[in-house]
Amino acid sequence: SNKLKIGVFGYGVVGSGLAHVLKNSKGLDASIVKVCVKDAEKERDLDAKLLTTNPDDILNDPEINVVAELIDDADAAYQIVKTAMQNGKHVVSANKKMLAYHIEELIQLQWQYKVSFLYEASACGSIPIIRNLEEYYDNDLLQSVSGILNGSSNYILTKIFNENLDYNLALKEAQDLGFAESDPTSDVGGFDTLYKLIILTVHGFGLFVHPDEVFNSGIANLLPKDIELASQKGYKIRLLGKVTKVNGNRVNLFVAPKFVRPTEHAYTVESHYNGVLIQGNFYDNQFMYGKGAGAHPTGSAVLSDITALAYNYKYEYKKLKYYGGLEYTNDMDVEI
Ligand code: HSE
Repeated sequence: SNKLKIGVFGYGVVGSGLAHVLKNSKGLDASIVKVCVKDAEKERDLDAKLLTTNPDDILNDPEINVVAELIDDADAAYQIVKTAMQNGKHVVSANKKMLAYHIEELIQLQWQYKVSFLYEASACGSIPIIRNLEEYYDNDLLQSVSGILNGSSNYILTKIFNENLDYNLALKEAQDLGFAESDPTSDVGGFDTLYKLIILTVHGFGLFVHPDEVFNSGIANLLPKDIELASQKGYKIRLLGKVTKVNGNRVNLFVAPKFVRPTEHAYTVESHYNGVLIQGNFYDNQFMYGKGAGAHPTGSAVLSDITALAYNYKYEYKKLKYYGGLEYTNDMDVEI
């Protein structure tokens, strides 16, 4: 039968979120059969029989056909994902940092080992952006993908603009609510947005860009006078990531805070929500909006990958849209 037996790595915000949403999915023939964690003694709402601290208990178990990699450490995640694929298992992952650095190789590996590799949860939480970019949008028509890709920064900016809350208090709240990364520098320094933008660029434009090549400025260096100026003018500040096609065959990426007017979609995105604006020829603008962080929204996106596998998603479907002619540029001659 097609039953999916899932081995999960990590039982933090995303892993526990997945377990909860999976319990509410009645039609899916999928179950979590093992969970690998660092510390088995920690209290969890999980049957202790499922727990292990030995990765091989999942990676070498022939019964397990899906590995859900939901840990924090990008280097350890990379090893887990590679080994799982080599061992013939399908892999779902939420690790945007790992993907940003290794996605080109990992996509090659899924073709080599003939397994599916999905990571809808790695960008924009619950918003189904990755498979839509890949399957719906034509790469010749697509012009740009931009938006608010980090829930924590947006939560902080919302609290500052709407409630005049202090930056550090707002950050602490984002951490307590499970939105922020374990090292929140990644959120407020723009890196989390950057990693997601790299993934969207792969699926929108078929182009692999190294994170170090991209201009990135987060919200950590915003000054009170920036906030004041924006407020005086009736604007808000939002942290945006944008990938744009310029002059036909070049693609530019950047991450930066920007003043947004009340007429812009980004202005309406508040709290830990994300919003992605897709611009293209013929269809003009499309805007996708939803919760970008947190256990259940992100767990739902992981579940969507498992659902795709249950419906027989095949690794061959991931046909990256290589132009052959597209190249990255970091010239800042782009209208932002
Ligand atoms: N730390 C991330 C965010 C989690 O705040 O958006 C979701 O990827």
